[in-house]
Amino acid sequence: MSIKTENLIFTLQTKHSTYQMKVSEHGHLLHLYYGPSVEDEDLSYLIPHVIRSHESNPDEAGEDRVYSLCAYPQEFSSNDAGDYRIPSIELVNGDGSYSFVGKYKSHTRYKGKYALNTLPTLFADGDEDAETLEIVLEDPVTHVSVKLLYGVFAEKDIITRAAILCNGSDHPIRLQRFLSASLDFMTSDFDLIEFFGHHYYERRTDRRPLSRGIDEIGSFRGASGHFHNPFAILCDKKTDEETGNAYGFCLMYSGNFVFGAEVDGYAQTRVAMGIHPKQFEFRLNRGECFEAPEVVLCHSSEGLSTLSHRFHRIFRENACRSEFVKASRPVLINSWEPFRFTFNTETLLKTAEESKKLGADLFVLDDGWFGQRNDEKAGLGDWVANEEKIPGGIRALSERIHALGMKFGLWFEPEMVNENSDLYRTHPDWCLQVPGRAPSRSRHQLCLDLSRPEVCDHLIQAVNKVLDEGGIDYVKWDYNRYVCDVYSVGHPADRQGEIYHRYILGLYRILNGIVKTHPHILFEGCSGGGGRFDGAMLTYFPQIWCSDNTDAPSRLVIQHGTSFAYPISSMGAHVSVCPNKKTKRTVPFKTRALTAMHGTFGYELDPAKMTEAEKAECATYTELYRKHQNLIFSGDYYRLSSPHDDSLFTAWAFVSQDKNTALVCAVLQEISIMDENCYVKVCGLEEKGMYRIAETDQILSGAALKNVGILLPHTTPQYSSFLFQLEKV
Ligand code: GLA
Repeated sequence: MSIKTENLIFTLQTKHSTYQMKVSEHGHLLHLYYGPSVEDEDLSYLIPHVIRSHESNPDEAGEDRVYSLCAYPQEFSSNDAGDYRIPSIELVNGDGSYSFVGKYKSHTRYKGKYALNTLPTLFADGDEDAETLEIVLEDPVTHVSVKLLYGVFAEKDIITRAAILCNGSDHPIRLQRFLSASLDFMTSDFDLIEFFGHHYYERRTDRRPLSRGIDEIGSFRGASGHFHNPFAILCDKKTDEETGNAYGFCLMYSGNFVFGAEVDGYAQTRVAMGIHPKQFEFRLNRGECFEAPEVVLCHSSEGLSTLSHRFHRIFRENACRSEFVKASRPVLINSWEPFRFTFNTETLLKTAEESKKLGADLFVLDDGWFGQRNDEKAGLGDWVANEEKIPGGIRALSERIHALGMKFGLWFEPEMVNENSDLYRTHPDWCLQVPGRAPSRSRHQLCLDLSRPEVCDHLIQAVNKVLDEGGIDYVKWDYNRYVCDVYSVGHPADRQGEIYHRYILGLYRILNGIVKTHPHILFEGCSGGGGRFDGAMLTYFPQIWCSDNTDAPSRLVIQHGTSFAYPISSMGAHVSVCPNKKTKRTVPFKTRALTAMHGTFGYELDPAKMTEAEKAECATYTELYRKHQNLIFSGDYYRLSSPHDDSLFTAWAFVSQDKNTALVCAVLQEISIMDENCYVKVCGLEEKGMYRIAETDQILSGAALKNVGILLPHTTPQYSSFLFQLEKV
């Protein structure tokens, strides 16, 4: 049993961590502990019995001046009741008051993992060792209740949380904030690690100490976004890759989010995560409920590598039911970087034919195949082939591609519309737009109003028609602007605070109606590169295009940051031309190839412009990737040297679960390596095991590889790279 509920102390045990809560003498649910494993003992002694002067004491505490909601660690914090830290909830009750105080009402525990009705969650299959705990808190005055949901994946060291609010009062309420999870720590000696960036440079890593006040990240752009990822880590100051405590928080949601870490005056820390409360207001009538998205929690006392391994495993095994998650993935070649909007059937067929020489087995036709889409200004919304470019339509093209022995994939951006499109001309009211205001455009496009069921139904039908008739093996699902003008003429004026969230609910409905009804199509997510790379998207897409930046040194940074939460098997990564179109940097082919092997390998090249020797070089790396794909996807991943440090090189390794094989890669950052000795220290091997390094024909112990490292050859130019294939002897 991984969940114990004795004497209203709730203890969740995973293999290496413990999470504990307790109902206080006055019915509040206190958070007691989350960290390295302890027995099922009552840990409430960690709350000091001191009077925090000036704090409020609830009426039921009588003359007891110690009992205060602000000084005590809370599991789901109240509002307007004396806890002044980040609230879990804000609402306006029927009588105009803002108060919510949840008191314990009931709990239940069952085998298996809960699911939500409206939002994607991790799942557990029947034979999985997963359990659920539900605790219901209710406000005794208003009868608004909150059900806290806990999923425990004991073996995988993962705990999930979600929450459902139900209006049990007699009047409508206006819900203005409803966070998914908060955690109170009694101390504050933490660093925050977060993943920030922008289009072309997503998920760089920032590590900073928490200080007094609130350190908040989030998105208010309608998508989880390029700027901050809905994943953050709290860790001890000395935590590194291999040692120390670390807590990971990953929100399973693709829209606006907030993550806050607040250090209060007593040096206690509250962490809270959920839907961003800005411009959020849900009206709930009596009996109506609202679901807050799931947060995936993980604790590691063995540093950041172990934390990542646990997230990788749960996302690989418990997020997406696509048959492609575990199958070997095709090596694709994409038309976007070489052709943009300018192509015809003959150029496409020629590329597909030549791509075989690179070893690719999937040809993807990116943007530009539909409607009047000859540039960014027209066509979005019209998901019908442009027969001037592709006579006979998609089916005719896919048959010819298939006849070449290649699979065929297609790009869509279903959520968007250009004003110059048949869809917009027919339904000008189908996009998000504030009445009486000219809309803001981004990339010349508007965002469709997915809060309206008729818009969702149309998109499901239009995309499915192409998929069902077209002979499609792969879809790249793009989303290329942030939203603003968030107003839906399909909803009344007093419901406009619901539109951001209803958009995301509509999106998940569409994805359910398209992705889940096409189990034999591989879907890849994309959003101007990696602008919507989140756990919820991973429930639909086994892989997501990491960034539009395909420059290898930039990609090392982007993929390094992405790897803290998301598995290597989820990162779309391709080899492109040099000098790179964005950064103008020239990098050796091998380095570009090894960088793309840190993900779902593919190409953004025009084979017509390549020599036979270059094609043969591609084929060599395609083969190498295929040989190691299983190890890369299912091995444990180690960040050996960070591209952020002053290190002369970036290095990483994939180590098989049985520790018998490993792949070690290193890329030189600095030219000065010519004169300095560099050793790549390889973690994760069996220390006493002996490993043969194919490239150097050395046999070294796991201990030597870890403590001394592999000596990198001298005299090589900047961005040169090395691959070492290790086999236990
Ligand atoms: C986005 C994607 C690119 C490409 C273009 C097409 O920017 O990230 O990979 O598909 O759209 O318009």
